Amino acid sequence: MAKLIFEKSRAGSKRYDVADFTGLEPESPFVPEDIRRTGPLPLPEVAEVDVVRHYTALSRNNFGVDVGFYPLGSCTMKYNPKVNEEIASLPEWAQLHPEQPVETTQGALLLMHELQYMLAEISGMRAVSLQPAAGAHGELTGMLMFRAYFNDVGEARKVMIVPDSSHGTNPASATIAGFKVVHLESDERGMVTVKALKALCEKHGEGNIGGIMMTNPNTLGVFEQEVKEVAEYLHSIGALLYYDGANLNASLGYVRPGDMGFDQVHFNLHKTFSTPHGGGGPGSGPVGVCEKLKPFLPYPIVERTDSGFGFHRPEKSIGRMKLYFGNFLVLVKALVYLRALGREGLKRVAENAVLNANYIQERLKDAYDIPYYQRCMHEFVLSAARQKKLGVRALDIAKKLLNDGFHAPTIYFPLIVPEAMMIEPTETESRETLDAFCDAMLRYAREIEEDPEKFKELPNLRIQHLDEVAAARNPVVRWVPEQSKRE
Ligand SMILES: Cc1ncc(COP(=O)(O)O)c(C=O)c1O
Repeated sequence: MAKLIFEKSRAGSKRYDVADFTGLEPESPFVPEDIRRTGPLPLPEVAEVDVVRHYTALSRNNFGVDVGFYPLGSCTMKYNPKVNEEIASLPEWAQLHPEQPVETTQGALLLMHELQYMLAEISGMRAVSLQPAAGAHGELTGMLMFRAYFNDVGEARKVMIVPDSSHGTNPASATIAGFKVVHLESDERGMVTVKALKALCEKHGEGNIGGIMMTNPNTLGVFEQEVKEVAEYLHSIGALLYYDGANLNASLGYVRPGDMGFDQVHFNLHKTFSTPHGGGGPGSGPVGVCEKLKPFLPYPIVERTDSGFGFHRPEKSIGRMKLYFGNFLVLVKALVYLRALGREGLKRVAENAVLNANYIQERLKDAYDIPYYQRCMHEFVLSAARQKKLGVRALDIAKKLLNDGFHAPTIYFPLIVPEAMMIEPTETESRETLDAFCDAMLRYAREIEEDPEKFKELPNLRIQHLDEVAAARNPVVRWVPEQSKRE
C-alpha cells in the first residue's frame, strides 16, 4: 500500500524551511493558553518534487464523474458543464463580500431573485428560500416550518409519516425537528397506497398526524401513482405534505410538486442543477413553499422594492438556517444552467434521465432480479440475490465494477431490496457508455454462474479485501507516529 507523506519523511532531506517566528506570535485572544501549540510542528521532511508526486498519485486513486461512469443511485452524479464553473468563479461573483452594502451587490441580488422565481415556477410553489446548504438541511428547514405552522394554528401534531423506501435523511430530519417518525410500508409495486396510509393514520390518530415526507419518483425509481389521492386525504385531516425534491431531474418540466398537492419541497441544486453531489464541496438545498407556509420561511428572502433589490424577513420566520445568503456560488451555477437550458432543455433532461435508466434496466433484467420491475423513472434497483446464492454479494459486484473502471452503483439501499444495487445513469451519459456498463454487468452474471470464487479475485484494485465491518466500527482517521511504528 502507498506510504503516507509522514512515512516518506527523511530527516535532513532537501526541503523548504518554514521561517522561525518563535517569539513573534501575535497575542491570540481566541485560543486559551493551555491548549495553544508550542514548539516546532512535526512536519514531514520531503523534497518538493516528492510532495508533488505524492499528492498527484493520491489524486489518481480517486474516482470522479470526470474520470468515468458513475451510476450511484440517488446521488445523481452527472456531468456538470465546466463553463458554469468558470462563470461562477468570475471575480464579480467570487470576490463579493457578504457584508457589502446592498447598493453595491444589486447584480447578485437580481440573480438570487431570479433563481427564487425560477425554482418556484419549476416546482409549482409560491415562494422560495435559498438559505439551506444541502438536501438534508432543506428537509430540516421544512420540518421546522411544519412545526412552526402547527404551533401557530394551535395544533400539537407530532407524527411524521415516512415511506419505507425513503432516503435516510428524511426520518432523521423529522426526528431532529421533534416529530415522531412512523414508517409506511410500500405495496408490492414499491408504492405508497392511500389504503395503507389511512390505516396508519387512524392507528396513530388522524389529529396527531403532522404530515408525510415523500420522494417522487421514490428511491426505487418508481413514480407514486396515488400521490394526488394521498394529498387529498392528508389535507382532509389537516396534515401537510413535504416533497423531497432530490430526484427532480426525473420529472423536470413534466410534473410539478405543487400540482401534485405538496405544501413544501426542497431542491438539491448540487445534484440537479450543475453542482456535483458529494466530494466535500458546498451544496445547496433551497426550499419552496405553498401560500400558507410563506410566513414561516427562513430569512433573508430577496425582494424587489422601489429602490432596487433588498432583503425581507417573513413575519413568522423560523429564523436563519445559515449565515448570510446560502452557498452563493452554487446559486450562480444553478441559474446559469437554468438559463442555458430553458424550459424545453429542462424537459430533455428528464426525458434522457428516464430513457437511460430504462435502457439499462431492459438490458439487465434477465441476468439479475429486479423485484419492483416496471417502467422506471431516472433510476431502478436490481437485486443480486440470485448471485448471493452462489456466494457473490452485491458488494463483490460493486468492487468488480470499480476494478473495471466504473463507479459502483449505490448498494444495500433502499433497505427493502435484498442485495440492492441502485443504478442511476443520469441524463448526461451516451449510449456507448451505457452499453459498456451493461456489457460488464452481463459478463459478471455469466462469470458468477461459471465460477463464483474466481469472480471475487480482483487483479487491479489498490485495496483488495477491505474488512468493511472493522473499518466502519473502528475507523482510524488520524495518523499518529507511535501507532505507525507499532504497525
Ligand atoms: C432522495 C434524497 N433525499 C435527500 C438527500 C439528501 O441530500 P444531501 O446529501 O444534499 O443532504 C439525497 C441525497 O442524495 C437524496 O437522494
